[in-house]
Amino acid sequence: MRVLGLVSSGRKDGNTNTLVDTILEGAKSKGHVTKKVFLADFKIHPIGDCATCREAGACVIDDDFDKVMNEALEADCIIFGTPVYWWGPSAQLKTFMDRWVCRATFDKNGSSMSKMLGKKYVLAVPHQNKQLSATRLLFAMMEDSLDFLQMVCLSKIQTVAEGRNEASNDQAALRHAFELGARMTEVESMKKPTGSVTFNFANPEQVAEVSTFKWSQPT
Ligand SMILES: Cc1cc2nc3c(=O)[nH]c(=O)nc-3n(C[C@H](O)[C@H](O)[C@H](O)COP(=O)(O)O)c2cc1C
Repeated sequence: MRVLGLVSSGRKDGNTNTLVDTILEGAKSKGHVTKKVFLADFKIHPIGDCATCREAGACVIDDDFDKVMNEALEADCIIFGTPVYWWGPSAQLKTFMDRWVCRATFDKNGSSMSKMLGKKYVLAVPHQNKQLSATRLLFAMMEDSLDFLQMVCLSKIQTVAEGRNEASNDQAALRHAFELGARMTEVESMKKPTGSVTFNFANPEQVAEVSTFKWSQPT
């Protein structure tokens, strides 16, 4: 599989990066082709009048969006790494994803079709709040959007971390992140995953529970 890690924090050596890196290392250990992109390295403007491209035949915004979007279109699995910012994703990720409306879909017989159909994804999210519910709205937004695009959630990983790279102290989270990357093929080979596997590390009492995780079985 081609696995694309999107790090959408402004902090290059932050917690999001640690989670994404660890998943990619796991994937690489099993021979997957991996690539990491820091969204903040690219100039990606907010979407404008989204009908313009239909008239002009191409996006009129002159920036780096296509470079990153092409990577997303070529990937089999996308790791969406974002910190929780105000209960949602970072502005970098939201701005990037707003632009997907042009390139991730196409019209066929009057219906909107997805170019992302069947692609796998993982959500990798650090947050400061010790409550697991800190990710509730972010997860809901991402899952509903990506479900709309008919993408398949492999897993969601969250960790409580505030300071720069505090996530590297969360060995349980990193072990699971690595294993998730290493076991992508196993999940991919399932014809129809029944759902995603969620690891919760924010509450230490729950670590034992999640450390015996099992992938959901196909129906
Ligand atoms: C602008 C901003 C908003 C934030 N909002 C939240 C929030 O709503 N809930 C939360 O738990 N943490 C919040 N945080 C904390 C970050 O999610 C946390 O520090 C995270 O580990 C940062 O990841 P990074 O190191 O990859 O940048 C916020 C941080 C910033 C800078």
